[in-house]
Amino acid sequence: MYRLAIIGFGVVGQGLAEILLKHKARLKKENGFEFSVVAVSDFVKGAAYDPKGLDLAKVLALAKENRISEYRGAKTGWNAIDTIVKSNADVVVEATFTDIKTAEPAYSHFKAALKSGKHLVTTNKGPTALFFREVAALAKSRKLQFRYEGTVASGTPALNLAGLCLAGNEIREIRGIVNGTTNFILTNMEKGKSYGEALKEAQDLGFAEAIPDADVEGFDAMAKVIILAKAVMGADIEVADVARTGITKITLDDINSAKAEGKRWKLIGRVAREGGAVRASVRPEKLDVADPLAGVGGATNALTFSTDLIRNVTIIGPGAGKIETGYAILVDLLAINRTAPAVKKAAPKKAAKRMKKIRKPAKKAKR
Ligand code: HSE
Repeated sequence: MYRLAIIGFGVVGQGLAEILLKHKARLKKENGFEFSVVAVSDFVKGAAYDPKGLDLAKVLALAKENRISEYRGAKTGWNAIDTIVKSNADVVVEATFTDIKTAEPAYSHFKAALKSGKHLVTTNKGPTALFFREVAALAKSRKLQFRYEGTVASGTPALNLAGLCLAGNEIREIRGIVNGTTNFILTNMEKGKSYGEALKEAQDLGFAEAIPDADVEGFDAMAKVIILAKAVMGADIEVADVARTGITKITLDDINSAKAEGKRWKLIGRVAREGGAVRASVRPEKLDVADPLAGVGGATNALTFSTDLIRNVTIIGPGAGKIETGYAILVDLLAINRTAPAVKKAAPKKAAKRMKKIRKPAKKAKR
């Protein structure tokens, strides 16, 4: 039985809660995964903690009106750090907003979780991109798990594909569409919509970042490229190493003339091994329509992994969305369940009895 604390109860946290609520029986029967959500803490929506477990339907209903702190019978109003440190959770799910420049406050949440002995599962791109090595080392030193499948292409298993299914290959290059908003804008411009109209629609659909620059200037794609470089290729790639250009200079004329040539503009994130070094970029590229990435429209993401043993493998799937990203957290929780089974903690009384026994000196053996 895992006790979960969800930090950040926006789209992703709620998506996870909905999945857990709906599929509890299936997860137990088919995956042997049992859980109880003991805490939810959100900066705007409020916080509640019950060491015995919260009623998720109640939390979801209260969240709609930013009233989680009115949950009756629970300890309420704790901030994120208190919830992480003081709760009896085994796993912290970090799903607060992402800040690609400072990584805060999520990076502090990451450290607090691991330092207080809790596994960490996240969809947060900022701290995963900027501090991947530090967080991975901290988790390793505490024998805890740090899982982050949802940071790239939401629930589409891009990182698990690379880490598990392609094991034994040398991954030489990863290139792909890792930002749904810009792909949605480019696809809609090709259909005749203006840049502004398409951006507005992406914002209304809820997958654009709060500050549009994060998407359209390529910062979001850059964070994902850095995560791929560090986590998949083990490379030392930082923000300054990524050649980054967004889509703001692509005009309707550019799109139409590409179309006339049988080509399509896509914002491509790329990490490649080149002569002993790893290079990373995010930039608009004019792809031939025969390229598997060229046919990927709307907010969908796609990544092509070029390997030495099996050549190219392309994965296509959602890059954002409530249930899709909530699923990414679920898949990480199931991985923890498989690889680090929850330790059954003895009830306090039993544990005290056991301690007494240990302290009592053994009777001297008769000679
Ligand atoms: N703004 C991001 C995108 C959300 O459009 O892909 C998912 O990371």
